[in-house]
Amino acid sequence: MDTKNAIAVTPPMGWNSWNTFGCEINEQLIMDVADSLVSSGYLSAGYEYLVIDDGWQAMTRENGRLVPDPKKFPAGMRALADYVHSKGLKFGIYSCAGNKTCAGYPGSFGNEFIDAETFAEWGADFLKFDYCYFPDWADPKIAYQKMGQALRETNRPMCYSICEWGKNQPWKWARNTGAHMWRTTIDMVDKWDSVRWVGFDMQNGLSSYAGPQGWNDPDMLVVGLNNQGFVAEGGCTQHQYVSHFSLWCMLAAPLMIGADIRSIDNFSQRLLQHPDLVAINQDPLGIQANRIIDSWQNDMRRQIWVKPLANGDMAVGGFNLSDQPMLLELATGQLPLNPDGQYQIRRLTLDGSKNRRHSLVHGEQKVQLDAFECAIFLISKKD
Ligand code: GLA
Repeated sequence: MDTKNAIAVTPPMGWNSWNTFGCEINEQLIMDVADSLVSSGYLSAGYEYLVIDDGWQAMTRENGRLVPDPKKFPAGMRALADYVHSKGLKFGIYSCAGNKTCAGYPGSFGNEFIDAETFAEWGADFLKFDYCYFPDWADPKIAYQKMGQALRETNRPMCYSICEWGKNQPWKWARNTGAHMWRTTIDMVDKWDSVRWVGFDMQNGLSSYAGPQGWNDPDMLVVGLNNQGFVAEGGCTQHQYVSHFSLWCMLAAPLMIGADIRSIDNFSQRLLQHPDLVAINQDPLGIQANRIIDSWQNDMRRQIWVKPLANGDMAVGGFNLSDQPMLLELATGQLPLNPDGQYQIRRLTLDGSKNRRHSLVHGEQKVQLDAFECAIFLISKKD
């Protein structure tokens, strides 16, 4: 792999307009978000893509080309991309494999090559490619392949993010279309049941398909929405947002922030920029966590996920998925550990304080968790 120019060597990180703003987007908003990504520390934490989702387009093509809505984007997309680039960020745009986008704007079906050319001329570094209004729901591989080829022919490196909602098991074929990430489920909204279903129920068993340059995408983050914005459906508690973000980090999922980072609460900002969690997500081995426990006991559900890391450590996530506190056993016998081996274990803290490492006692590692709380541990071999 040519690692210098390669795209998505680790899971892509950025911000996307959809979860908060839906189609209510405009050039000033995007410039403000670009400013915040830099001034509030997101870019330094790794969030480099600023992606404009659906709703940027004018309703009709001009000379066969997609054009932005002149009221929302009066200076045009090239100027906006230049602004985004001037901040050290990468610029992302959205289109759809069908005749129309999901919000009813013109889609790229039959215009893949000219659209890819347009996006490249604007300076796009990322394309999210959706699946609404796909004619007759024919085989999507062909359409995604076509856009993949169109992007390659522009000679402009672009992260290709396909959004087929997991309908045709894209994890099995998306990498071959040139995609760097592929949605595995329908849209997630800002409420715990949705996060639980998309993340904790649907992602297990997909780890063998993820890796450098091709990632399973369980949808954009709802952390920090706090029941505001386009996908608000009740919101989540702090513990639920932490469990959501921690799982996405363990899954080596793309981390696309959906909240309005100009006004996000401090807790969510710290969570999104948590250096240890982001490091687990960005680990160069690029292994997606596997679930080793999913159990119900006395009406309480718990899960344990394990992610091997490049330095030989192992990240272990214990999740309480119930609305009551529990004592969660770490099931060391089921972790890929040598039963006679000597290990150290450290629980990550949220406030940045350092928990001390201590010796792992096989069979007796337990942690008290509040309702919906999780604990992420790093386990390393004792030298
Ligand atoms: C679909 C996608 C969402 C978003 C909207 C835009 O629902 O899955 O992520 O892009 O379309 O209309």
